[in-house]
Amino acid sequence: MWATNLKILALVIGTLGAYTLVASIIPQVQSDVPTELTFGSEVSAAELVAAGEQIYAGAGGCTTCHGLGTRAPNLLTDEGGQGTIGTRCGNRVSGEDCKAYLHRSLVEPMAHVVEGYQPIMQDMSRTLSPAQIWSVVAYLQSLGGEVTVSGEDVAAAQQASGSGAAGAAPGAAAATTTAMSTTTDPVEIMQQSQCLLCHVLRGQGGPIGPSFDGMGARLTADYIRRSILQPNADTASGFAAMAGTMPQTFGQQLSAAQLEALVQFLSQQR
Ligand code: HEC
Ligand code: HEC
Repeated sequence: MWATNLKILALVIGTLGAYTLVASIIPQVQSDVPTELTFGSEVSAAELVAAGEQIYAGAGGCTTCHGLGTRAPNLLTDEGGQGTIGTRCGNRVSGEDCKAYLHRSLVEPMAHVVEGYQPIMQDMSRTLSPAQIWSVVAYLQSLGGEVTVSGEDVAAAQQASGSGAAGAAPGAAAATTTAMSTTTDPVEIMQQSQCLLCHVLRGQGGPIGPSFDGMGARLTADYIRRSILQPNADTASGFAAMAGTMPQTFGQQLSAAQLEALVQFLSQQR
């Protein structure tokens, strides 16, 4: 049972990712892939840490900012002489212990902005489920500190989030906090796929990739399609330093209709 759960977990993390489109879009895998990472309250600290590490290094998108040097604080290594994140987390905000601080850093990143940095981190509960968030907290604690996250935290958060934390459509099934819709509205797809973490649209978004504004005047639809399907096929000029950061999984996650909606929309941005 335990081993089966781990297998399912690995499958979920591997396939679903932060972009969690798969289950709702590709009907043939729907029965194999649960849309939610479900731990029972008996989950061990080690299981949480392992799950959190995978989310941190992969689907969570954390390494886009953390680890590239100056954009965000280093979590895995020392920062300003205060140790790794698991060591310094308890000293950041007085009265807030490590676990509480880390959880808030993820779901309310604006509550305490680390000195010297811009408030560019997003509320991770929009893309990660409560169980995924607690796993990441456990992983961060394990980096130099004691893991105090338990299955009870996960269970409580899963219960509390019954109404759908991810801003899901009203009436969406309560259990699927990470459900993605099959919308073909390009802006909604971009929000769900997190394109705007890295790209700017109408002046809003992140500076990591080239702006979508004016993209259609520079690039053909074919080029845009290939850039989404195979981000590493070409590197945008001026963005060589960021090459390799765009997820290569959109081809599997977007339906054909969604991909075309994006391509058409982007080639119309003049
Ligand atoms: C868009 C860039 C970006 C992404 C993506 C991002 N972060 Fe951050 N993060 C920041 C920045 C900048 C700060 C410092 C400013 C602040 O506190 O908001 C920060 C702060 C933090 C802190 C507090 C660090 C400290 O020293 O106290 C933690 C913990 C953290 N992030 C974890 C994560 C995790 C885990 C993920 C992935 C689930 C993630 N971040 C994704 C940019 C990002
Ligand atoms: C984690 C950051 C990140 C995310 C998320 C991301 N991209 Fe990108 N994207 C980049 C970077 C960096 C480049 C430039 C480097 C390169 O070409 O590989 C790029 C390049 C592109 C290009 C080619 C632009 C050019 O001028 O050549 C297109 C088109 C594009 N992205 C579309 C998208 C779409 C659509 C999404 C969402 C479905 C998306 N990207 C999500 C980082 C990202």
